[in-house]
Amino acid sequence: MDKIAIINLKGGVGKSVTTINLAAEFSARGLGVLVVDLDKQANVTKFYNALDYDKPSTADILTCSKDILDVVCPNACKGIDILPSNMRMLAANKQVLTDVSNVPQQTRLGYAFDRVEDRYDVCLMDCPPDLDMGSINALCSADWVIIPVDCDEWATDGLREVLEHMQCLRMYHNHRLKLMGVLLTKYTRTNAEKQVAKDVAELGVPVMTAMIRYTVKVKEARSAHKALRDYAPGGTATQDYADLADEVLDVLGLDVSNVDTEKRGAQ
Ligand SMILES: Nc1ncnc2c1ncn2[C@@H]1O[C@H](COP(=O)(O)OP(=O)(O)OP(=O)(O)O)[C@@H](O)[C@H]1O
Ligand SMILES: [Mg+2]
Repeated sequence: MDKIAIINLKGGVGKSVTTINLAAEFSARGLGVLVVDLDKQANVTKFYNALDYDKPSTADILTCSKDILDVVCPNACKGIDILPSNMRMLAANKQVLTDVSNVPQQTRLGYAFDRVEDRYDVCLMDCPPDLDMGSINALCSADWVIIPVDCDEWATDGLREVLEHMQCLRMYHNHRLKLMGVLLTKYTRTNAEKQVAKDVAELGVPVMTAMIRYTVKVKEARSAHKALRDYAPGGTATQDYADLADEVLDVLGLDVSNVDTEKRGAQ
């Protein structure tokens, strides 16, 4: 299972939209996909109609109170399993920090993944706009990181901090962690975007070749609880997410013509 954390300290840049649409693209190519919601806002969980305050959630994995197999919602959407979130992530984040047990705080999600490693091809982790214990657990368990950056004013705010944190976590907790690239989102071909691309290039970080164009279809699709490929086939951002999926699979070296169709989740 290749694990990808989708993170940026800046809010509203397209982390959740990217998670949802990459998951749909991977699933459509026959891959077994696990989506992990680490954000107390639970936007991805809500998209899959899986929000339930009283059911086990990712919070229980951080606090070591549930087995991952008791948390996973199988087949939340066309072959995609999810680890749902809810507002209990708020308390879980505090609890992890004050927990005096012997279980390391940063690697709890990673240990949980060991139980499902063979069940999925790809795991996508949607992080909150914060470096809380959820995000830190995501970075400590991930193989790869994608950082969506919206083509807007102050676009690169927080980028340096994510990169510094990655460097630190790579050194002490997760030697495998690699940046796949910055993903430019809400692209409209203006001078602002050229400046964002220049600012990112100055930081010396890789940038994904695929860029996600701005379109109202993104919001409409989310309100309809549909992935772009189902809501707006042939649309601009639909094509962009398909291109991004191909690019990511290329980096992962995953050959979709040769996938093990037995890897289809928890059930
Ligand atoms: N390519 C796009 N074109 C138009 N609107 C977009 C695009 N991508 C995202 N959006 C819109 O931007 C808003 C934020 O997107 P999203 O929720 O994915 O961001 P986020 O980074 O996950 O936010 P948060 O940090 O709050 O979790 C949403 O209203 C979404 O519809
Ligand atoms: Mg989000």
